[in-house]
Amino acid sequence: MSKRFFPILLILLVLGCSLVAAQTKSVDAEGHQWWQHAVFYEIYPRSFADSNNDGVGDLKGITSKMGYLHDLGVDAIWISPCFPSPQVDFGYDVSDYENIDPMYGTLADFDHMVAEGKKHHVSIIFDFVVNHSSDQHAWFLDSKSSKTAAHRDWYIWRDGKGPGQPPNNWISTFGGSAWKFDPTTNQYYYHFFYAGQPDLNWRNPAVEKTMLDTTRWWYKRGVAGFRLDAVETLFEDPNLKDNPALPGTNKQGDPEQEDTYNTKLPEVYDVMHKLRKVADESNAVLIGETGTRDIEELKQYYGEHGNGLQMPMDFMFTGVDKLSPPEFRRQIALVDASGGWPVYVISNHDRVRSYNRYGDGKNNDAIAKLMGAFYLTLRGSPIMYYGEELGMENNDPKRKEDVKDPIGRTGWPQEIGRDGERTPMQWSTDANAGFSTKDPWLPVPPSYRTHNVATESKDPNSVISMYKKVLALRHTNEALLEGTYTALNEDDANVMSYLRSYKGKAVLVALNMSASPQKATFNLADKGFASVSLKTLVSTPQSSAKGMEVTLEPFGVFIAELAK
Ligand code: GLC
Repeated sequence: MSKRFFPILLILLVLGCSLVAAQTKSVDAEGHQWWQHAVFYEIYPRSFADSNNDGVGDLKGITSKMGYLHDLGVDAIWISPCFPSPQVDFGYDVSDYENIDPMYGTLADFDHMVAEGKKHHVSIIFDFVVNHSSDQHAWFLDSKSSKTAAHRDWYIWRDGKGPGQPPNNWISTFGGSAWKFDPTTNQYYYHFFYAGQPDLNWRNPAVEKTMLDTTRWWYKRGVAGFRLDAVETLFEDPNLKDNPALPGTNKQGDPEQEDTYNTKLPEVYDVMHKLRKVADESNAVLIGETGTRDIEELKQYYGEHGNGLQMPMDFMFTGVDKLSPPEFRRQIALVDASGGWPVYVISNHDRVRSYNRYGDGKNNDAIAKLMGAFYLTLRGSPIMYYGEELGMENNDPKRKEDVKDPIGRTGWPQEIGRDGERTPMQWSTDANAGFSTKDPWLPVPPSYRTHNVATESKDPNSVISMYKKVLALRHTNEALLEGTYTALNEDDANVMSYLRSYKGKAVLVALNMSASPQKATFNLADKGFASVSLKTLVSTPQSSAKGMEVTLEPFGVFIAELAK
């Protein structure tokens, strides 16, 4: 290259880079970041779309559905782990953090997925398994090889208490002792989950540095953020104190205990701050699998100065497993006032699908629409679970020999495992719901014939049609995008209602959480809205308003704009 052209090229390059940076750093007038306006959607990659018809989904499959995701109203997909893995826990046992499992494709497929995502305005969020690696990871293979191995201190090794006795009483959440004896060095290693998932030693600065660098590596390659797996279990008491015993046994038949000394240690939050610092270099978002017991714990994850996770999931909201307006109101009020940005989830790959959890067996479709209209209109970021927009149901195994999830095999029949909520996405009425021409790794439920993308897309009253309407509204209506949340008629035990308001404009949401028709009257004068009328935006067929009185059919939805 000629010397004359080099400075010009350099200027162009710097200009180009700052333009890109300016684009990705877009913050709106309210100071909201991109992830605060985004709708997230969890994809279990084994089960979303199978491009090569081997019965297991893959990245090319996901890429081929970017148009679908965009049209649905999804802005970011969180893909459960697709890194190389022996698949002991279906990818939550990572043997190489900087690659793609051949079952799912290649790094080139990943790059293509990112590029197609950009075209369709869908960002990619990866799942970072921070607590443990696979026992087949090169770090662990080295670690177990000798007491003086370079990676020995990357995991947690201890002598037993005596012959055949583990170092303490800690129980693995997946069954049995949390310690496994390794004869090569005559010591035990610690695993909160399966023995194939040894815990990394986050007290070792080399581990911390490597893990932070891994996130940086993926951000540079196009990942827009991470969902951090099992963060509560990152640290253990260095003295390995026994956990206090509790009465009874758990689903795996182990004695119950309080996880006092191996979960929720304060050191966890320091790591969250460090991960956040790296994320901020790329304007990336961190979502946390944060199993908090109360709002004070959740606040710790946000960080006192907002320097922790931007999006710790509020599983206390998810835990309201019944259609109870008072309980939902209580939980929403707490997280809404927490100072952090609320994150609402109703299903994921570890929980029975919302269709079954909230469904009453008779009105499940109506309830699925109601739940969609509910959590997608709250102030905060929702994380959908694939198929939720269809009213996909759990398809639980009926016999032990059909179970794929190891906790279901070891815990059967008390613990049947998580296969039921992980079945293939239902695309059409074709064989295997159009997921694959080969029999998929898990079977689809018979209800796929009615609950699939192709059939439901033709029906204006289907679950997917409700999701699409609400998602479209959420992306365009300023009060839903920017507005505050105010609970209404707080004494009403059947109708959940609230106002989202912004700069004198407001949206009223009224949801009948009961199986009988309901009426709700609203007096909004004290909310700054005197002499207004209700202009319907989205509603179920039999729900409507007369003046400020709303009539709702059983499980009816009514969303309206306040018109002066
Ligand atoms: C998280 C995941 C779960 C996995 C576990 C161990 O809870 O969501 O699926 O089994 O971590 O990685």
